[in-house]
Amino acid sequence: MDAIQTPIVQVMGDLIRRHPGTISLGQGVVHYPPPAAALDAARRALPDPETHAYQDGAGQPALLDAIGEKLRRDNGIETGRGNRVMVTAGGNMAFVHTILGITEPGDEVILPVPFYFNHEMAIDMAGCTTVRVPTDDRYQLDLDAIRRAITPRTRAIVTVTPNNPTGAVYPESSLRAVNRLCRERGLYHISDEVYEYFTYGDATHVSPGAFDGATDHTISLFSLSKSHGFAGWRIGYMVYPEGLADSIAKVQDTVLVCPTVISQVAGAAAMEIGPSYTRSFMPALADVRDIVLAQLRTLEPLCTVPPADGAFYCFLRVNADADPMNVAERLVKEHGVAVIPGHAFGVKEGCYFRVAYGALQKETVAEGIGRLVRGLREVLT
Ligand SMILES: Cc1ncc(COP(=O)(O)O)c(C=O)c1O
Repeated sequence: MDAIQTPIVQVMGDLIRRHPGTISLGQGVVHYPPPAAALDAARRALPDPETHAYQDGAGQPALLDAIGEKLRRDNGIETGRGNRVMVTAGGNMAFVHTILGITEPGDEVILPVPFYFNHEMAIDMAGCTTVRVPTDDRYQLDLDAIRRAITPRTRAIVTVTPNNPTGAVYPESSLRAVNRLCRERGLYHISDEVYEYFTYGDATHVSPGAFDGATDHTISLFSLSKSHGFAGWRIGYMVYPEGLADSIAKVQDTVLVCPTVISQVAGAAAMEIGPSYTRSFMPALADVRDIVLAQLRTLEPLCTVPPADGAFYCFLRVNADADPMNVAERLVKEHGVAVIPGHAFGVKEGCYFRVAYGALQKETVAEGIGRLVRGLREVLT
C-alpha cells in the first residue's frame, strides 16, 4: 500500500479546507441531484422488509431488466448472449472486480496516459503492473505504442471514453482497432464508459461491447454517478463475458455480497427515466464548457488546450518549466482556485492540470475560471 499513490482528491480537499472560499475545479462531480422519481421510489421502499435484507448478488431483477433495456437501446449491446451483467457499488468497484477477476499477481495491464488514477491504484493493489502508454498531443490513442507495449504477461488494455482526465472522445476506428488487437492477442478490452452521455458538438460515443465478435473479450463498465447525479448512492454495473461468471461472482460475494438494495430501487427508477435526465442538463453544461475553453485559450501560447469534446474535463498543458504540485498549491493559497496536477494521472514529465467543470453553474464559472487564468499567468511568468 505504501507504493500506491494517496488519492489526490483527498490531498487537494485538505488544502481547500485550509483555504476557505476556494473555488474547486478539482473533483469530477456534476452539480445536479438524482431525479425526484428515484428519491420517491427509495422512500416508498423504506417500509418493505425486503429492502433491509440480503438480495441477489448480481442485482435486483427490476434493475437488471432496466439495464438490459438501456444497453440494447443506448449501447447496442445485447445481454444474455454470451455475456452477463453485474450491479456494483459504482464504476470504481466494477473496475476492481474486473482486475481481480482476470489477473494473477505479476500480470500487466495497459493504461494509456494520462489515466484515471483509481485504475492504476486498483491494478497495483492486485499485485499487477500498470504499463503506461503515451497518447498523442491531442490525447488520442497511439495504436502502435499500445501494440509495442504488449508482452506475454499482458492481460488487458483499458480505454476510457469520453476520457477522464482529458475530455478526449475516441473515434470508433480507434476503439475498433483496440478491440481487434485484444481479440487477436488473447487480451481483454476493458471499456470504461461512465461518461457515455457527456459529449459535445459532433462527438459521439461508441461502445466497443457492441462490435461484432467483441462479447468474449470485452468488459464494459458503466455508472449512474455522473449521468443521474448518483455519486453517493453507489450504483454502477459491468457487462462481462460469460466465461468470467464464476470469478466475478466470487469477487462480488466477498466484497459486496449484494448491491445496496435501496440504492438499486432508486437506480431502477432513475434508469426508467433514462438519458433524457442527463440530456436535460447538457445545454447548461455545454455553455459552461464554452466559457471554460474560451477563457483557457486566452492563456495560449503559455498553455495549450487540446480538444476536449466529452466528459467535463480538460487537461491543460503548460508550455513552461514548472513543478505542477507547487503551482497547484500556489493557485489555492494565493488565488483561491483548485485544479488537479497532472502527475496524479500518470504524467511524469511536464506541467499539466486537469480542470473539472461539471460542478460549476453558469453564475460561478466566470469567477472560478477567471481566478485560474489570472493565477496561472501570475504564477507561471
Ligand atoms: C473514468 C472514471 N471511471 C469510473 C469512475 C468512478 O465513478 P463511480 O465509482 O462513482 O461510479 C470515475 C469517477 O470519477 C471516472 O472518472
